[in-house]
Amino acid sequence: MAEDLTILKEASKEEKYISIIPQIKALLEGENDLIANLANVCAALKEQFNWFWVGFYLIKDDELVLGPFQGPVACTRIKKGKGVCGSSWQQEKTLVVPNVDEFPGHIACASASKSEIVLPVYIDGKIIGVLDVDSEYLSHFNEVDNKYLNEIIKLIDA
Ligand code: SME
Repeated sequence: MAEDLTILKEASKEEKYISIIPQIKALLEGENDLIANLANVCAALKEQFNWFWVGFYLIKDDELVLGPFQGPVACTRIKKGKGVCGSSWQQEKTLVVPNVDEFPGHIACASASKSEIVLPVYIDGKIIGVLDVDSEYLSHFNEVDNKYLNEIIKLIDA
C-alpha cells in the first residue's frame, strides 16, 4: 500500500481526479475492511481537494449513521428521505445541490456549507450508505465530480 500521496496543487479538477484515482485504488488493494477503506478514501480526497467536509453515512437499522469522514463534527443520524443524504439514499440517486439553502429539508450540520454532492454507495449491488461532500462555495460540484466520484465509489466495491 502506498503511504504518501502525490497531491496536485496547480491542476484542474479533472486532472486532480485522474491523479488521485489510481492512488486510491492502490490504497484499497489488499485491504477488505470496509471502515479502513472508507477512512482512507476520505483522507485521500480531503488531501487532494481540501473540501470543507467529505465523509460517509452508513445504513444501520433503517437510518444513516455517521461513518468515516474528514472535516468538522457532523450530525450523527439521518432518517431515510431526510436532507440531501436521506433523499439520495431513498431515491438511490446522485444529488448535486448547487445551493443548499434552496434544497427543501437540507440538514445544516455547519452553516459554512453552501453546496453539496451526495452519491449512493453499493457493495455487491446493495446500497450500504452514501458519500457526502460539502463545499463552502456555491455551485462547487458538477458532472465532473459526479463522474469521478462514481468511479471512486466503484473501487470500494471492487
Ligand atoms: N447536509 C447533509 C447532512 C450531512 S452534513 O452535510 C455532513 C444533508 O442535508 O443530508
